[in-house]
Amino acid sequence: MRNHPIIINPSLLACDFLRLEKSVKEAVAAGVPMLHADVMDGVYVPNISFGFDIIKKTVGVAGVPVDVHMMTVAPWEYIDRLSDAGAYSVTIHSDVGDVCSRRGALAHIRNLGMRSAVALKPGYPASDIRDVIDLCDMVLVMTVEPGFGGQKFMDGMLPKVEEVRRIADSVDPKISVQVDGGINEDNISLAASAGADNFVVGTSFFGAENKKDKYGKLLGAAENGASREARD
Ligand code: DX5
Ligand code: ZN
Repeated sequence: MRNHPIIINPSLLACDFLRLEKSVKEAVAAGVPMLHADVMDGVYVPNISFGFDIIKKTVGVAGVPVDVHMMTVAPWEYIDRLSDAGAYSVTIHSDVGDVCSRRGALAHIRNLGMRSAVALKPGYPASDIRDVIDLCDMVLVMTVEPGFGGQKFMDGMLPKVEEVRRIADSVDPKISVQVDGGINEDNISLAASAGADNFVVGTSFFGAENKKDKYGKLLGAAENGASREARD
């Protein structure tokens, strides 16, 4: 039976990089159960963020699992180093390499004891997860074009969240569904009603003066949305 805890997952991309340790500790003190780390290589997406050393140092002070979102070409090149850095989960995109390399990467992530996930950019349909879903613990539905924080949530992605949830349930109800991009207090319940349980929140969380209060509001709104889904 599916019974996912709601996870609010702040994206470090929106934190104060000059005070990374302070930002991580503030987020964890607010109660969040996970942190999201966006690795961008400037090729797969037109932006460069950070790499293994930052992830390792974050893991060292976080005390909560660190979820790594790989926006790079050839993510399979980096899986051992992400494991060494202490990543909890690794997400690769559905449009990198061929199906063989994606399946190999997801299996390797799992073999190293990490959780595996595949991500869909806005232009890619839910059905694109079918050739790898048996190797996934989570599916990420992007609700903005990847590459930058602070963009507007695309509500046109909600039917895709529903479809991904249906496909995942038919394979293994334990598979988690994550949304990432433009999530805030106003739209998080819509994503939860559509079937998401893991919510990456960058700007809305780190931009808040009172992070504990923001976490509570995001969690409450997501729980409301999820209970609407359960009733439908
Ligand atoms: C975008 C990243 C997101 C981003 C989310 O490519 O994958 O994780 O940091 O930030 P907000 O919530 O500001 O859209
Ligand atoms: Zn991300």
